[in-house]
Amino acid sequence: MLIALTGVPGTGKSTVAKFIRKKGYKVIALNRVIVRRKLVKGFDKKRKSWVVDSKKVENHLRKLRNKYENKILILDSHISHLLNVDFAIVLRCSPEELEKRLKAKRWTKRKIRENVEAEMIDLIAIEAEERLGRKRVVEIDTTGKPPEKIAEEIEKIVQKWKGVQK
Ligand SMILES: Nc1ncnc2c1ncn2[C@@H]1O[C@H](COP(=O)(O)OP(=O)(O)OP(=O)(O)O)[C@@H](O)[C@H]1O
Ligand SMILES: [Mg+2]
Repeated sequence: MLIALTGVPGTGKSTVAKFIRKKGYKVIALNRVIVRRKLVKGFDKKRKSWVVDSKKVENHLRKLRNKYENKILILDSHISHLLNVDFAIVLRCSPEELEKRLKAKRWTKRKIRENVEAEMIDLIAIEAEERLGRKRVVEIDTTGKPPEKIAEEIEKIVQKWKGVQK
């Protein structure tokens, strides 16, 4: 079972991933895997980011699906909901807090604005629901919530989905 752990950059996916791993779940830092395994078409100098090769990523996911056949595999990435996954958890954050988090990460003004705007228009939640349908997507508001608590919520959701899949 492949589960996307998605959300606009800064909503806390990787922070919560640490706590989900502590509970014994396998969480893959997908963005890192994409770069390490060169599942990319090239580097966009203007945007200073890698251009993902979705075919290569899907191929890699197929292998992971076989490897983790009857297990729960969680994919930490803001693009994971666009892949061939079974369910998606979308982390949300108030625009004000998101701006603060991204400022603290020293992101450029332009990138902060882009991401805060994406959060304001529910971009990722809409994309995920379009692909997977409403019943396969859950949104969690992370504003003012400790990551441990978010990890607990995620565990409950994942266990519920596990029951549905059987
Ligand atoms: N629940 C939370 N409450 C307060 N601050 C948080 C929370 N989760 C994450 N943060 C802070 O927000 C920042 C971004 O978190 P994190 O790197 O986990 O986001 P991300 O969703 O993985 O982003 P990216 O897509 O860029 O990898 C970090 O500085 C982190 O400490
Ligand atoms: Mg991250």
